[in-house]
Amino acid sequence: MHEKQSLRIEQLKKSYPGVQALKGVSLEFNTGEVHGLIGENGAGKSTLIKILAGIVKADEGKIFIKGEEVSIRSSKDSAAHRLSFIHQELNLVTYFNAMENIFLGHSYPRKYGLLVDWDQLKAKTEEITRTLQVQFPLRRPVSYLSAVDRAMVAIARAFAVAGDVYFMDEPATALTDIEKEKLFKVIRTLKEAGKTVIYVSHNLDDVLQITDRITVMRDGMVVGCSKTSEFTKDSLISSMIGKDLESAFPEKSGTIGEQVLKVSHLSNSHVHDISFELRAGEILGIGGLVGSGRTELLESIFGARALSGGTMELDGRDYRPSSPGAAIDRAVVLVPEERRKQGLVLSRSIYENISLMSLRDLSTAGFLDHAKIKKMTLQSGRAVRLKSEDYTNHVGTLSGGNQQKVVFARTTLQRPRILMLDEPSKGVDVGARFEIYSIIRELAASGTGVILVSSDFNEVLGLADRILFIKEGQMTCIKENTNMQQEAYLNHCYGRATT
Ligand SMILES: Nc1ncnc2c1ncn2[C@@H]1O[C@H](COP(=O)(O)OP(=O)(O)OP(=O)(O)O)[C@@H](O)[C@H]1O
Ligand SMILES: [Mg+2]
Repeated sequence: MHEKQSLRIEQLKKSYPGVQALKGVSLEFNTGEVHGLIGENGAGKSTLIKILAGIVKADEGKIFIKGEEVSIRSSKDSAAHRLSFIHQELNLVTYFNAMENIFLGHSYPRKYGLLVDWDQLKAKTEEITRTLQVQFPLRRPVSYLSAVDRAMVAIARAFAVAGDVYFMDEPATALTDIEKEKLFKVIRTLKEAGKTVIYVSHNLDDVLQITDRITVMRDGMVVGCSKTSEFTKDSLISSMIGKDLESAFPEKSGTIGEQVLKVSHLSNSHVHDISFELRAGEILGIGGLVGSGRTELLESIFGARALSGGTMELDGRDYRPSSPGAAIDRAVVLVPEERRKQGLVLSRSIYENISLMSLRDLSTAGFLDHAKIKKMTLQSGRAVRLKSEDYTNHVGTLSGGNQQKVVFARTTLQRPRILMLDEPSKGVDVGARFEIYSIIRELAASGTGVILVSSDFNEVLGLADRILFIKEGQMTCIKENTNMQQEAYLNHCYGRATT
């Protein structure tokens, strides 16, 4: 037996109706190692982690901790074996506050054997937030917290018990660069203390940066495992998707047409005096740092935030949506960043979720045309490479990334006049990303005006015709995207460019 080995799994298998999520996975993780786990959407990464967390029961297979076989039937078992988790879906109880969430499932410290001892709970929580060097409101229900703060609460929860092995399933998707650096620092400290960290992400740059070894999964199997230094980004991609990716961005097709949207002096508590025009077929990128007001700008155009000043025109007519519903009626659509929360009905079928909202277009003479709905749904699902055998399954049974593709498939069915995308590729694997970019291009070519927000500046540089830069809610400049380099882009984001 290997001294360094902290956790080993042997021939783990798990089937769901119609899909074998794990087809006999064997892996070992060492002490003092950061181990990357990557693979396309639906490859089986989260299933593997949920089995080790005691949330999902494996059909077959063995688990060894420090050489001894163990059985994990519940989250209590996994905690007893000193396994800690940050799950992809966060699993927070939204009406509980941060402290309650962090210590959920443990016995809260009590006063007089009865009342929760909030002072002690607060002290314990602050110990964790100090280690992580983060701050978030402790006493408000987490439903009031921002996406970043909620993600930090989920991370803090993993540190509420002393662990030896930390599983992090997409921990950074909602984080800004600053928090991500903090998380990486914590990961390095864990590693130095001889702990094991398993890091799951679709951000391959992050994986290459933070890990020592990487395991690649495809279709429920391990297809590769090597030291990180032996991989390049290209070799990771090709082992993930089983082929090379020719290019990252599809070529532009179609031409830019008439003006569809005119925004003049748009203002509210988050954005100040923003003016621009958007043309049919144009992709307008919004450049700026996280927190600069990019999302709020989209939401203001979408009628989700009240305006205090300014006007908008859509196709030459007054446009002032009082609600998102009113915006959708004018064929203005927003794909939000937190798709799971804002865009999906998890307990309904894939089929219903995709065709939701497009029912008017899918009717013939006022009657729902089921054959047409079925055909269109399948088509748009295939277009984003949605991995599912059966579209009557609930969306809740899909892997995280595939759930995001459902939202995307739905928007394409709506043939929007204006499509606003907030972080369209987060949580989506590299192969499917290309498909999503192609769809954005196709929609633009068919006359849709697109507004794109992304923290991945390559995405903005690769897709946008023009880029509007904002800083602290104010527009700093608007530039043609012809050969703009990364450095110039970042300078504009920081508002320090002179040209
Ligand atoms: N509760 C469930 N019921 C039915 N099928 C499920 C369930 N959970 C997962 N699956 C299926 O198991 C497969 C593996 O999913 P899993 O969530 O492990 O993928 P993943 O690698 O984590 O993907 P992602 O990168 O998108 O998060 C997928 O085909 C998924 O649809
Ligand atoms: Mg997953």
